[in-house]
Amino acid sequence: MDKRKDHYYKKAKQEGYRSRAAYKLLEIQKRFKIFRKGARVVDLGCAPGGWLQLIAAEVGPKGRMVGVDLQKTRALASENVELIQGDITAPEVRSRIRQALGGEAHVVTSDLSPNLTGIHFQDHMRSCELARTGLAVARELLRPDGIFLTKVFQGEELDAVIRELKDEFGEVRRVVPSASRKASSEIYLLAKGFRGAVKGSSSG
Ligand SMILES: C[S@@+](CC[C@H](N)C(=O)[O-])C[C@H]1O[C@@H](n2cnc3c(N)ncnc32)[C@H](O)[C@@H]1O
Repeated sequence: MDKRKDHYYKKAKQEGYRSRAAYKLLEIQKRFKIFRKGARVVDLGCAPGGWLQLIAAEVGPKGRMVGVDLQKTRALASENVELIQGDITAPEVRSRIRQALGGEAHVVTSDLSPNLTGIHFQDHMRSCELARTGLAVARELLRPDGIFLTKVFQGEELDAVIRELKDEFGEVRRVVPSASRKASSEIYLLAKGFRGAVKGSSSG
């Protein structure tokens, strides 16, 4: 799609959001109220920072955010955001997140995307792998009853990913924001009511 013609792209430019992706999270927040004032939030795959802008507004000055991405994310205006450039599959990056957060997370969000090949099956499988890595991070960081939100591309492995989430969360729902591009196979999985970390269960 021609970016210049995209409604959400233009809206993001006008309203000062760094990405059109911010509108997907905005819609999810309006519907499900996942962020509360003062919450600690980890955002995986945060660059260029559109989701973080929105999360910062929702959690307010008493909240705390850590954003992680392979790419460099330009600093945000809010002081309570720590940015880490690194690969979330790396154990040292995960321990840096934990240190920077200063306590258990109320919410872990993941908009992680693989570099797209255009081969649907391959992109789908890579995206499921990233969702599982996000789940492993969430398992390490979330407090009991915490929330995990992840993007995933639809395909044959999706039901298996949902089952894995259901093993660890009280409620899992599929969400398709209207800001997702019509041609895209992406959906978001919103998992609420984390049952709590089981020692030795982390992987990914
Ligand atoms: C769709 S973008 C995120 C957009 C973001 N939510 C926003 O609103 O600005 C997906 C990001 O995932 C990141 N990513 C993919 N694999 C990663 C990994 N293993 N570790 C860290 N970041 C990763 C990419 O670098 C990319 O910036």
